[in-house]
Amino acid sequence: MSGILFMKTQQPDVIKQFYTEQIHCDIWLEQADCTILKHGNFLFGFCHRDRTDTEGMLTFFFRRRQTVDEMYAELKPMAVSEPVYNEKYRIYQFFARDPENRMVEIQWFDHPVAQYADGADLLKHRRSTRDFLDAEINDATVQKVVELARWAPSAYNRQPCYYVPIRSRDLKSWLGARLETASEPIDRAPMAMAIVADTDITKHPEQDGSIAAYHFLLAAWHFGLGTCWIGSMNHDDVKEKLGIPTSHYLVTVTPVGYPSEYPVEPTDRKAASEILKEAR
Ligand SMILES: Cc1cc2nc3c(=O)[nH]c(=O)nc-3n(C[C@H](O)[C@H](O)[C@H](O)COP(=O)(O)O)c2cc1C
Repeated sequence: MSGILFMKTQQPDVIKQFYTEQIHCDIWLEQADCTILKHGNFLFGFCHRDRTDTEGMLTFFFRRRQTVDEMYAELKPMAVSEPVYNEKYRIYQFFARDPENRMVEIQWFDHPVAQYADGADLLKHRRSTRDFLDAEINDATVQKVVELARWAPSAYNRQPCYYVPIRSRDLKSWLGARLETASEPIDRAPMAMAIVADTDITKHPEQDGSIAAYHFLLAAWHFGLGTCWIGSMNHDDVKEKLGIPTSHYLVTVTPVGYPSEYPVEPTDRKAASEILKEAR
């Protein structure tokens, strides 16, 4: 489910050029006399008519504060204010006018925001998080994440995986020290989640477990929560400490929390051309 905000324009080509080239929107759909644009998950369209809608304001928000400055440098001739920090809303923002005089706001939220990353945005921008805000995660949020994570595929749809929240400070410290620097993020997070595959239910615990864990990581990010896959947790002492049967496969214990720095810097990836190979 989604939605589209439509506006009337008398200069469809000029408007299309402004929003694609200067605001960096994609064209989502071309219709007879309308163009629908996309910015993240914001869909908005312009239809060629004999008058122009200029009421309201189009706000575009970005992940980085510095993007607001970069956008300001590009949009300076149309800007009506310089970038400023707005204490009331905890945002960094400036305003500009589009070629038909509509008000456009460019902003960055100076706090984590939930539930806007979807689809390609979610796949591309999820990052491993190793430092967290000192903000608790309530049970309702954990419930929402698991509600999404449970849609992970599994062999024969046996659904062998389960999730164990860890909030105890002592347990988090112990887990954080277990793999030295590799598991330290667990100790820094307000909570952790053990992701386990029940080997009585599946013959493919590693595959089922990995895909369930990745589903969990993506679901958490969708709700604004950072995680980090911590490897090499499938040890008897770890499982005993967590009360998990030693025969079960402990896929990972991930820290879970609101990232202290947002966004977490992207890591490099190989080019698609490098990993798309011809079959022999
Ligand atoms: C199987 C696996 C094991 C990992 N183990 C650890 C770990 O023990 N500690 C850690 O900090 N990160 C760990 N990571 C996270 C990776 O370092 C991270 O995914 C990678 O650097 C890419 O960064 P990104 O997740 O931000 O895109 C692990 C990831 C995977 C998939």
